[in-house]
Formats: sequence, C-alpha cells, structure tokens
Amino acid sequence: MSAAIIDGKAFAAALRARVAAAVPGFAAATGRVPGLAVVLVGEDPASAVYVKSKGKMTAEAGMAGFEHRLPAETSQADLLALVDRLNADGAVDGILVQLPLPKHIDEAAVIARIDPAKDVDGFTPVNAGRLATGLEAMVPCTPLGCLMLLKDRLGSLAGLDAVVIGRSNIVGKPMAQLLLGESCTVTIAHSRTRDLADVVRRADIVVAAVGRPNMVPGDWLKPGATVIDVGINRVDAGEGKTRLVGDVDFASAAQVAGAITPVPGGVGPMTIAVLLRNTLVAAHRRAG
Ligand code: GUN
Repeated sequence: MSAAIIDGKAFAAALRARVAAAVPGFAAATGRVPGLAVVLVGEDPASAVYVKSKGKMTAEAGMAGFEHRLPAETSQADLLALVDRLNADGAVDGILVQLPLPKHIDEAAVIARIDPAKDVDGFTPVNAGRLATGLEAMVPCTPLGCLMLLKDRLGSLAGLDAVVIGRSNIVGKPMAQLLLGESCTVTIAHSRTRDLADVVRRADIVVAAVGRPNMVPGDWLKPGATVIDVGINRVDAGEGKTRLVGDVDFASAAQVAGAITPVPGGVGPMTIAVLLRNTLVAAHRRAG
C-alpha cells in the first residue's frame, strides 16, 4: 500500500474540540448556549443511530440539544407546524430534519419551510442558491467536511481536476459547488455517465458519493490522486455478519492513490463535527 490514510476520525475530533472550546465565549456574551433541534419522523434504524449520536455529541460540545421524535404517521401539516415553532424559538439556532422522511410527506416542502438562518444542513433552496452564487451560505455538512479534509491534505486546490461521482442535493451538487469555489476544474459524474473509468482517470481529486459498494477500483485512478470516499455501504461479510465498505475499493485504490479516506473512520465522523460547527456559526450570526 502506498497511499496516505486521511484520518477523518481524528480531524473530526479536533474540530469538535475547537467548537466546544468556543461555546463558553458565546455563552458569556449572550447568556445562553447554542441550540440544535433535531427532528426524526418514523423508525428508520440508520436514522435513529445518527440522531442518537448527534444528541450525544451536541451535549459533549456544551450545546443544547432539542430532540423531536415523531411517529411515522405524522401528517405533513403537523411537521410543518413543528418547523414553524422551531423557526420562532429563540433558543434554537440550528434545525435539522433527518432525511429520508416517510413517503407521504413532501420532503422539499418541509426543507423549504426551515428558516435559512437556522438551516444548519444547508439544504434549503436559499442556502443552495447562496452557495451556487458565491454568497455567505450555510453549507451542507458532509461536502464541507470533505473539503476540509482535501484542503488539509493538499493546501490550495486551484487548477486541479476534480470528479464528483454522484449528483445528490445532499452531497454531489454542493460538493461540486465547493470545489468550483476553490477553482478546481469540476466534472460531475452519475449513473448515466459514459466511460466513468476514463473520467475518473483524469482526476487529481475523486469524491465518490453514489452508495454503491466498492464501485471504483484502483485501476480507474490516476496515480497519486486524492480519494475521498463518502459511501457507507453495509455488505455481507459471511457467517451472518456484515461490515461497512465505501464506494471505492479500498484495497486496490490504496495501491494507486496518493491519499485516501478509509470507511469507516474517514468522511463519516466529519458530518456531525461540521454540523456542530454550523450550529455555532448560525448562533453567532443570529446573535449579530
Ligand atoms: N440523512 C442522511 N444524511 C443526512 C444529513 O446530512 N442531514 C439530514 N438532515 N438527513 C440526512
């Protein structure tokens, strides 16, 4: 193996520690701590795990956590009413509605209802538009975490060829905007891309965010490329066990890449760390 391993777990722990260290100063100036409201509708097991972990890390950072667990049958009107209450609540700086929502709820309508100033996920059309036009925005947590890892590793990204595999609103599109903002030459690849191997081979930076286990093999990579693997896929490991793998085939990619994030312990831990950072930023902006 030749690639350096990008330790997202350690980077995330350091970021959370920096956020926690800034909370007492905010509290001294404002008389309150930053507050994050998390809304979970239904019983999706993966979402329940994330929400629990968010609650724990919010408390560890010295912030106030407000958890709202609603039954799967919750009506869209009731969910919108909760978002309205959180928008109006002075103790709440950040609002996160955990996705996916149950099928009968219009996800886009719920997201659009969140006050953009409290949109710590950066999912509202206002924040997506602000990011795309280069204005001050709340930026989605996972892509911002990826960008932090890339800049820590590479310094300036200007002029580098970057490929983002995946075009979701949560990762792919904002990731591409962030890389463009750093003056990369950006390609967004997706399920209809022709000759993905050829596209990937030209890239100095590869961000894989498609949710397909081990889809990118090492022989697609340009030697020395920096590889950020956003995928978290649970696969059968035999004997009734499962294990987590990324969208990149780690064993073969690590022979070719210059640096690579592992799964687990790469991008995953960054998401919550950036969420806490975004909550602190939102609290400061609201406090003026
Ligand atoms: N579901 C999977 N990732 C995320 C995320 O970053 N934010 C929200 N709200 N839901 C998610």
